[in-house]
Amino acid sequence: MTTANPSSPRRWPTTLLRCALALGGSLALMAQAQAAADTSPAQQLARFAAEAGAPGQAERGRVFFTSRHAGEWSCASCHGNPPTAAGKHASTGKPIDAMAPAANARVLTDSARVDKWFRRNCKDVLQRECSPAEKADVLAYLINLKP
Ligand code: HEC
Repeated sequence: MTTANPSSPRRWPTTLLRCALALGGSLALMAQAQAAADTSPAQQLARFAAEAGAPGQAERGRVFFTSRHAGEWSCASCHGNPPTAAGKHASTGKPIDAMAPAANARVLTDSARVDKWFRRNCKDVLQRECSPAEKADVLAYLINLKP
């Protein structure tokens, strides 16, 4: 009969499994850390401009960002006008970090986050998704803002 001997060969599978789990865990953490800054504002602009087949236009982006569309809110209702300082959520009053890269080094550096918030906020403001051209215009506007 084998007793609970830590060096018993029978324990190897468990030990290997633990190692694999630990390694998997740290790889997942690394992937997460990377996802938090997997891109740059300029790369995001290039991505939407490529999808739109045309470069973003800052002035058109400014008008789009500061105007109301289908609903009560414009982008500026929550993000401020100009969005170079912290914004304030139009319904909850919660502070929102500045949207201009010149004023906020972290903004537009996570592509999943950019996609998630464009989807959510465009639905709120336009009652539809923003087109790639609209996204490119907004990013051209934000990237060109001075602090
Ligand atoms: C009802 C309030 C509200 C409105 C209106 C709004 N947003 Fe936002 N937006 C937010 C909040 C909240 C966040 C998350 C910010 C945070 O976590 O600091 C956000 C984040 C974003 C981000 C992600 C920024 C990043 O990289 O962290 C983008 C892009 C964005 N908004 C674009 C827009 C655009 C374009 C419009 C207009 C079509 C708009 N938003 C309208 C509330 C709003």
